[in-house]
Amino acid sequence: MVEELQARPTGGGGRRGGGRALQPVALGDVAAQEHERLSTGIGELDAVLGGGLVPASLVLIGGAPGIGKSTLTTMALANLLAAGRKTLYVSAEESAAQIRLRADRLSATDALQIPVIAETDLDAVIATLEQERPEVCVIDSVQALHCADLQSAAGSVAQVREVAARIMTVAKELRVAALLVGHVTKEGALAGPRVLEHMVDCVLQFEGERERTYRTVRAIKNRFGSTDEAGVFEMRDHGLVEVVDASARFVSEATRAPGSVVLCAMEGSRPLLVEVQALVSQSELVPPRRVATGFDRNRLALVLAVLGRHGGIGLGAADVFVNVVGGVRVDEPGADLAVALAVASASKRVPLGGERPLACFGEVGLTGELRTVAHRDRRLSEAEKFGLAPVVEPGVCGSLREALQRMFAHVGGEARAA
Ligand code: TYD
Ligand code: MG
Repeated sequence: MVEELQARPTGGGGRRGGGRALQPVALGDVAAQEHERLSTGIGELDAVLGGGLVPASLVLIGGAPGIGKSTLTTMALANLLAAGRKTLYVSAEESAAQIRLRADRLSATDALQIPVIAETDLDAVIATLEQERPEVCVIDSVQALHCADLQSAAGSVAQVREVAARIMTVAKELRVAALLVGHVTKEGALAGPRVLEHMVDCVLQFEGERERTYRTVRAIKNRFGSTDEAGVFEMRDHGLVEVVDASARFVSEATRAPGSVVLCAMEGSRPLLVEVQALVSQSELVPPRRVATGFDRNRLALVLAVLGRHGGIGLGAADVFVNVVGGVRVDEPGADLAVALAVASASKRVPLGGERPLACFGEVGLTGELRTVAHRDRRLSEAEKFGLAPVVEPGVCGSLREALQRMFAHVGGEARAA
């Protein structure tokens, strides 16, 4: 049950609303708006936003607790402040002292100049916005603010919706660019923020695992830019650091041991080389264990089934673990082949690369065929940039069986039997 505020009677009612008729205009006659951009001073974030924050826009930034939302928004405000913008940080979750502790850690010096209020009451926050009239404000988080007109608890659907709607009205009226921080649950993007996605101009998703260093920010909706961009960050002692050349890192760290391959993945419109590792071991359990980190579990089941049926690699009695290294999450069919080859390599205990790790990408179909995926050229040129050639991909091998034969052609009978 979702609590609703009772709408005020508008009088008249029915079809006789007494509205004023409008004159429609042809789209071509509408003056195209050039959006001014406020740079956050964080290149990766600006790119995801489509060139910076748009004044009077609403950006929702969602992510699991501890991922670094408060850190990222604090850093952005510090940079905006240094660039002479008026800012405000509204913290409904932490006390001002706690925010200060975070700002103390950040290398951005202006972090300590950011004006903050620690408040959970929506009316007080709106009154402050009206008084201070910042150009950019952060609301951390939208679930922790509370609207006194509603009985339900902070964070409930009714509350979150009302809070966002009220802030949106104020933001548009006062031309404040508002960054709303929202938590998502472990299961995905559900709970609170989902109900806001249609309201806001831009939805950013902050992903990664808390224990790992790498995090990605991507836009899943953007009225002022593309949703193809993704930014990669690393959490360090002094805040989030942009990882401009993540591929270089991942390739140099790749192990080249049995069970390891490099996937030419796409992070938005940007190619990214990541290591995919697999471990296959004798199982004690029925059914055996299937663990995937950074890769979809159902997709793993599919790849294993195809490996068994079309690749002659039966894993019915083995535990299979697959891990995308560095906390990266690959959510695209292009990762199938990398998972298949990593598992095959682990199962046969045969390393796939030579001097350099083996690079691959491609979707694995149910009949064992390899299917082409988007951005072939960009993936190939990224691999080439790091000296990973030749790349195993659908343009080279038609089927998974063919790819496996090619990979293990040099292996003698002993390893094949294993
Ligand atoms: P935080 O931004 O508070 O996460 P969120 O707002 O998404 O819940 O911080 C995330 C974690 O990052 C926290 O456990 C502390 C850590 N951290 C660093 O490692 N280095 C830093 O410089 C800062 C500020 C935080
Ligand atoms: Mg936080």
